[in-house]
Amino acid sequence: LRKFRKTFKLHFITNLLLLIERIRRMIQNDLNIDKFIYGGDYNPEQWLDRPDILKQDLLLMKKAHINTVTLGVFSWSTLEPIKDCFNFTWLIDIIDKLYDNGIQVILATPSGARPRWLAETYPEVLRVREDRTRQLYGERHNHCYTSPAYRERVRIINQKLAKTFRNHPGVILWHISNEYRGECHCPLCQEAFRNWLKNKYKDIDSLNRAWWTTFWSHTYNSFHQIESPSSIGDHGLHGLNLDWKRFVTDQTVDFMCEEIHALRDGGATQPVTTNFMDDYKGLNYYNLAKHIDYVSWDSYPTWNKEDEIRTAYNTALQHDLMRSMKQKPFLLMESCPSSPNWQAISKLKKPGLLQSASLQAIAHGSDSVQYFQIRQSRGSFEKFHGAVIDHYGGSDTRVFNEVTETGASLIELKQVIGSKVDSSAAIIYDMENRWAMEDAKGPRNEGLFYHESVLKSYQALRKAALNVDIINMEQSLDSYKLVVAPMLYMFRSGIETKLRTFVENGGILIMTYWSGIVNETDLCYLEGTPHSLLDVFGLRSKEIDGLYEWEENSLIPIPENSLQLHTSYKCKNLCDLVKTTSAEVLAVYGEDFYAGMPTATKNRFGRGNAYYICADFEQGFYDEVIKKIVKDSKLFVPVKSIPNGVEVTTRSSSENKYVFIQNFNMHSVKMEIDTRNSQIILGNYKKSTIEGFDTIVLKLKR
Ligand code: GAL
Repeated sequence: LRKFRKTFKLHFITNLLLLIERIRRMIQNDLNIDKFIYGGDYNPEQWLDRPDILKQDLLLMKKAHINTVTLGVFSWSTLEPIKDCFNFTWLIDIIDKLYDNGIQVILATPSGARPRWLAETYPEVLRVREDRTRQLYGERHNHCYTSPAYRERVRIINQKLAKTFRNHPGVILWHISNEYRGECHCPLCQEAFRNWLKNKYKDIDSLNRAWWTTFWSHTYNSFHQIESPSSIGDHGLHGLNLDWKRFVTDQTVDFMCEEIHALRDGGATQPVTTNFMDDYKGLNYYNLAKHIDYVSWDSYPTWNKEDEIRTAYNTALQHDLMRSMKQKPFLLMESCPSSPNWQAISKLKKPGLLQSASLQAIAHGSDSVQYFQIRQSRGSFEKFHGAVIDHYGGSDTRVFNEVTETGASLIELKQVIGSKVDSSAAIIYDMENRWAMEDAKGPRNEGLFYHESVLKSYQALRKAALNVDIINMEQSLDSYKLVVAPMLYMFRSGIETKLRTFVENGGILIMTYWSGIVNETDLCYLEGTPHSLLDVFGLRSKEIDGLYEWEENSLIPIPENSLQLHTSYKCKNLCDLVKTTSAEVLAVYGEDFYAGMPTATKNRFGRGNAYYICADFEQGFYDEVIKKIVKDSKLFVPVKSIPNGVEVTTRSSSENKYVFIQNFNMHSVKMEIDTRNSQIILGNYKKSTIEGFDTIVLKLKR
């Protein structure tokens, strides 16, 4: 009886603790990490006939300081080899073993790739392309998001996974599907699209007005005539194209939410994430982010292709975008320990670069560094993709050593956990704006360079040592001192009012050419652009000139302009011709029939300043303008000047600031760092020198 009571008590206490943990997770939906998550995708299902290898992997993972692996991303056919015959034993076994060895698990739902039997049994799950041909079974990520059959099969397996692992202390996070992407034009999707439109416009006349369908006699008589855009049908109706893209996002969101509900119905309380891709244009990620607890993303830059710092900035921009979506720490879910195999050239990372690239994610607010993948697969598409453990299988490799060193650095940086990236500057980079602008027809159908233009402002702000948020038009501007709005072609979500109030209240706004042109359904604004902000900028845009590839114009500063611009710069691609009312002209065009007309202006409005940049200038112009604006506005910067190739990012906690100074040059650089009131907690800083690819982390009391 005593033994029974003891067991019962133990059982009761364990269950109580689990219940408390579940309630905590439910309330916080937070990872509550006490160490940076370090590891990557692991595919033991490929090695079930090699227990010796699985055993060896555990030892190697521990040696490399790996504390987390992502399991199950593409495991459906091993989990459910035949319809309704489930085999989770191998997964339970591996998760238990990992847990016993101190390694936690991010568990994926398997919807990213379906088994053959599923497509054979339910042909409706196969995607239909825009030219209305149905695809064959194959590859991955190619199922229809509307198909009730696919949704049902996903619901069944997700719920079963949740029931099995909801209480496993080793499973810390759910990874929903993998890199949602693409679209389907099947009859089920057409019907769903029509319903989506009915819901949005209520009656067909409103839709006709919003899409301007009188043009080319494309007026709809009823919703049932509507078809998704197609190369063999309507593809020039911009309102249709735009709403289709919005629908695709909403349908993906709906599918993802069903996946999450299935987990919750199965009793899972762990937080959820889904992994995003680099600068992916097919979805408006902000809308997915609203329904998950953590944003995570997969970073595969083409290192060694151009100036390393340019690649570093481009990657940093994505990190900042991921962080800004939820304004909280994000996760680096995948990155490559050496070289990916799907890029044109598989370039090895130079020694030291792995550590810099990984710590860059941490500097920008990630709580993790995860790789694809832990063990290199033996056959098929990714057999030559870089991995922590390669085909050779030992720990005495260059990559394994660098992975281990990076793991050790993350342990050294433990105190940084919990700190945040606060930004005084933001750039508005909006996906719906991008969709509309790139579909616009004119003023340049051979490249508008939206991303490049965002990157130019971003680089300039980063060179001035400012942290930067990358936001969309729905977000608030209240916490920023400086906002850059490059090519804000479409105004939506009341952005014009937000921008006006921002400047009125003392903010500094920099807007560029081709802004405030159309409304949310892509109809051009009447009565002058940038729409409703003519007084804020003290000007009106009259015309815009598209330049040929080989054409250039230039900027000539006005003597004694208030920003003290003295240098001349080149511009390309687009030149906006404006007429000023109250704005000060800082510089004028140097050539063409518009020589002498304004090309950069400044207008005092309320307590703030609104700058307007009329053309696509070279990087140096943005660097100079932003440096001067930052200097005048006395924004906090952690260092006085930054050498070429170095990136500086600050994370802050309530007590400390952690300044990450990263040298993305292969060679060492000289940099003066004031160490009087700070302590170096990582990296070597001797004789004012930072070694090639090294990262210095400074700790300053706030
Ligand atoms: C990612 C994908 C992974 C793997 C990786 C290879 O896009 O999520 O499953 O294929 O690419 O770089």
